[in-house]
Amino acid sequence: MDAARLAGRAAIVTGAARGIGAVYARALAAAGADVVIADVLESPGEALARELLATRAGARAVFVRTDVTSEGDTARMARATIEAFGRIDILVNNAAIYLDLERKRPFDEITVEEWDRVLTVNARGVWQCVKAVAPTMQRQGCGKIINISSAVAYVGTPGFVHYVASKAAVIGLTRALARELGGCNISVNAVAPGLVSNDASARLNPPEYLAQASQARAIRRAMVPEDLVGTVLFLASPESDFITGQTFVVDGGAVMG
Ligand SMILES: NC(=O)c1ccc[n+]([C@@H]2O[C@H](COP(=O)([O-])OP(=O)(O)OC[C@H]3O[C@@H](n4cnc5c(N)ncnc54)[C@H](O)[C@@H]3O)[C@@H](O)[C@H]2O)c1
Repeated sequence: MDAARLAGRAAIVTGAARGIGAVYARALAAAGADVVIADVLESPGEALARELLATRAGARAVFVRTDVTSEGDTARMARATIEAFGRIDILVNNAAIYLDLERKRPFDEITVEEWDRVLTVNARGVWQCVKAVAPTMQRQGCGKIINISSAVAYVGTPGFVHYVASKAAVIGLTRALARELGGCNISVNAVAPGLVSNDASARLNPPEYLAQASQARAIRRAMVPEDLVGTVLFLASPESDFITGQTFVVDGGAVMG
């Protein structure tokens, strides 16, 4: 990893205390960015900040307890980033209800409360975090927003329609926000990962399903969180400055077109 690629940039990763978000935070720090870990999970979030400080020479890291559905928390997240690093260059909207989804169930068994909970965190939370950082990015005249969607929005995977709807909403939100913020040189893109073989997916899917997903890919192997890092770093870096409103499916070639 080129430690100078994102040197001097301040990045926020929501939902970074565990899972794929933690992998994004480590990669951004390794590329030289200062990182805010924003999550509801305090002790793993603080542990990751300590790990980044100990292992990434030069890069700074802080944990800010943030519920992405709370306006007070998202405002505090933005304030804390400016206090710690003086600016906000990159926002990775990764927080979502995924591992904690109720096991797969038919659409008519999902309760209104579950629907609202998933849509509120996964879609409204993205909008709220953008709202919180946009004034700073607008003042700076630049910014990179990367929203994490999912390939399920293309496949229409059954068993969690609320989750699928929330991840499709992220794609629409990405397009509209790209148009609203493009005038200030802020790019807004989305990444739609395929099924990653991690704890969350193992809890939600039987091993046969994960094996089947690998076979459905052009590149026939299990997908790991690190497969997503290159795209996220590219979208966070100046190399992608003229790309906005796009969704990048990273899934080894299962979904095409
Ligand atoms: N794992 C996969 O196969 C897969 C595939 C496609 C997309 N994704 C997406 O990638 C992202 C990470 O997935 P993961 O597998 O690491 O799942 P995960 O459930 O382990 O991680 C989600 C993170 O978000 C945090 N979070 C949840 N609600 C929050 C809230 N209200 N405020 C702040 N933080 C909150 C959790 O504490 C956790 O750290 C999610 O957006 C998920 O939808 C995952």
